[in-house]
Amino acid sequence: MSRLIVVSNRVPMPAKDGSAAAGGLAVALQAALQARGGIWMGWSGESSGDREPGPLSQLQKGNITYALTDLTDTDVEEYYRGFANRVLWPICHYRLDLAEYGRKEMAGYFRVNRFFAHRLAPMIEPDDIIWVHDYHLIPLAAELRQMGLKNRIGFFLHIPWPPADILVTMPVHEEIMRGLSHYDLVGFQTDYDLQNFAGYLRREGIGDDLGNGSFDSHGRIFKAGAYPIGIETAGFADFAESAANNVMVQKTRRSIEGRDMIIGVDRLDYSKGIIQRLEAFERFLTGNPAYQNKVTYLQITPKSRSEVPEYEHMQKMVAEQAGRVNGAIGTVDWVPIRYVNRSINRTVLAGLYRLATIGLVTPLRDGMNLVAKEYVAAQNPDRPGVLVLSRFAGAARELKGALLVNPYDVEGTANAIARGLAMSLGERRERWSMMMEHLLSHDVSLWCENFLRDLVTAPELPRTIA
Ligand code: F6P
Repeated sequence: MSRLIVVSNRVPMPAKDGSAAAGGLAVALQAALQARGGIWMGWSGESSGDREPGPLSQLQKGNITYALTDLTDTDVEEYYRGFANRVLWPICHYRLDLAEYGRKEMAGYFRVNRFFAHRLAPMIEPDDIIWVHDYHLIPLAAELRQMGLKNRIGFFLHIPWPPADILVTMPVHEEIMRGLSHYDLVGFQTDYDLQNFAGYLRREGIGDDLGNGSFDSHGRIFKAGAYPIGIETAGFADFAESAANNVMVQKTRRSIEGRDMIIGVDRLDYSKGIIQRLEAFERFLTGNPAYQNKVTYLQITPKSRSEVPEYEHMQKMVAEQAGRVNGAIGTVDWVPIRYVNRSINRTVLAGLYRLATIGLVTPLRDGMNLVAKEYVAAQNPDRPGVLVLSRFAGAARELKGALLVNPYDVEGTANAIARGLAMSLGERRERWSMMMEHLLSHDVSLWCENFLRDLVTAPELPRTIA
């Protein structure tokens, strides 16, 4: 079996005690790497200031070599904060209004991808399979090809892919699309994203859908498909069951005694629809006064990308909104919204999901949203909670037992909250079983296997068109 080389901007390093890093994706990729042997390469998260980064720092754990590189301050500013998070991220989340196109940042993005390629190439053997993850590294395959690498290279995009009309607003849309054509397999989260990709090729007249998942574009034939990512469903369900005994979970349970709890868990990001969700919760309480003092909404929102101005602004807005609703509706003995602005331990999180009558997952746009899947997996099968889910999350394509909402429709979301709280146990069980069955049969290990199988069986070289 060929070795596997995974490349991603961030690398989930194993915990110091030797246990695997938390999170289904990390666990699945680490399992695939362990089985085949290989390397996980990415950014260390550290800056080397204005000096060139030193050699890769390497750590060996079983069959896996973790190889991390620092980046200079300029690289971090232009590649990560600049182009990746102020152009690609907003564009892929349909936020044209937030995209900041700077020539310097665009050049920095391509430069850092070249730098990654130069650091990676010397470690690659001819039959290694390379799997690149996410929007930070789209041009990586083109750079590796430029250096003469002929290996199978796959790419998986964890975030949405927008329609052509949105993509073409990005001055370097052609270079980005050309970058994708250098992979042998390009994976998207949903068939919608795949259709957007195919639609661009058609609309711009630069490629053809050859059928059967094959495309030709920029003189290359490659495959593209939808590979909806899953979670470690069975493991997470067991984890949530035992998390019920966690001291913090029990304390929280006592603190909400006699009330229903609604939970929202999101990185602090404008794509998550947190402001609209808080408004919907407020609308629900004012429209259903009988629920006042009977329900607590816990919003857990770790800070994210705080150096990017849009995120800093968002942080202020969410805090103000939560404070305003609490001030206006709360009473001396009841705080409607508990707003936690930091990340919490995964065991506690699993236990809290299980305590909540409603999981409120209402992003304005999301590639998949694993919180929705984890909420479902964490439920007690005897009395499961209700998932209220945005129709604009990739997960909505699969979780048919959720109450689907349009997060822009504040009143509709408020009504879904009321419906979820009033739902009979019979209906809750029926909806939950349907979703859980799906999650058990489409977990993250299967996702990983499917992608790697299709990458390995992608057409043999040469794939260029004469
Ligand atoms: O979901 C996309 C993603 O970029 C993940 O790859 C990453 O773990 C997460 O968002 C957090 O973002 P960042 O790496 O910018 O802190």
